[in-house]
Amino acid sequence: MVDHPPPDPGVPHLVVRGLRKTYGAPPVRALRGADLTVRAGEFVALMGPSGSGKSTLLHLVAGLDRADEGTVALAGVRTEELNSTKLARLRRRHVGLVFQFFHLIEHLSALENVALAALIAGCRPTEATARARDLLDTLGLLDRAAERPGALSGGQRQRVAIARALANQPTLLLADEPTGALDSAGAAEVLDLFRRLHAAGQTILMVTHNREVAAGAERVVRMRDGCVVDSVVDSGKDSVVDGESDDAGEPVDPLVAPSGPLWVDALTGRRTRLRPRTDAGDADPGGAQRYVGSGP
Ligand SMILES: Nc1ncnc2c1ncn2[C@@H]1O[C@H](COP(=O)(O)OP(=O)(O)OP(=O)(O)O)[C@@H](O)[C@H]1O
Ligand SMILES: [Mg+2]
Repeated sequence: MVDHPPPDPGVPHLVVRGLRKTYGAPPVRALRGADLTVRAGEFVALMGPSGSGKSTLLHLVAGLDRADEGTVALAGVRTEELNSTKLARLRRRHVGLVFQFFHLIEHLSALENVALAALIAGCRPTEATARARDLLDTLGLLDRAAERPGALSGGQRQRVAIARALANQPTLLLADEPTGALDSAGAAEVLDLFRRLHAAGQTILMVTHNREVAAGAERVVRMRDGCVVDSVVDSGKDSVVDGESDDAGEPVDPLVAPSGPLWVDALTGRRTRLRPRTDAGDADPGGAQRYVGSGP
């Protein structure tokens, strides 16, 4: 599925430091010093309230826009040092983008939509078609290859969009609310696909407002007011940190999550396993189990 050398999970694939971005007049400070590290092969969900800067962060990582301050290193390359031609080349080589509303071309078939991405990147037509066919096959859509997007379900359309994002074998798959326009069955379909891609070694950074979708990721990072505020590992739903989910239900406090989550410092990527507190004097009045760091 991923035709790159297997990722070395110890190596940061994406390193964002002190990213700042202000839009327009009056100025809107979309990013106020965001820091994030994503390791090779990681599947990270990015959550946070509307307006907290998630899409802006994704756009800057993708090289679709430039930061005012700060650095983005993708696969070891500092993007702010590149001119626009080199940035576009890096983006083609390393980044696949998936959006909430698919953005497929309605008068092209599923196969043509995927092949077009490879053609634009310089593939010969026969190779582009073969690659598109392979991807649709892997994603379970080969029998729908000749259909236009209008004849596909939401989940199938998003899978075609994901196939298109993968057409040039990106090392980093970026997705901005990829299940936001889908019903629960479509969302489950897309999440399952992301999990399969992740299992095959794909590095994924996915924005979502959906707590259940985030729980499918390996790590959840939360943003607030233009900054990354925390980051928790554990694929168990109980350890998902989400104060701002659109879903009904109480936010989960990471310090009372019952499964003893693994904290990850968003800046350094350092992981710390939390363990239950033993001092009875600090017992939580609500009966919730509290955790403390157990060291690196
Ligand atoms: N091109 C732009 N011009 C002006 N302001 C912008 C632009 N893009 C984003 N903003 C502003 O920057 C802030 C962060 O926006 P962003 O889209 O990154 O938030 P978000 O976390 O993705 O929100 P949502 O969950 O609603 O998608 C918001 O206040 C938004 O209005
Ligand atoms: Mg957004």
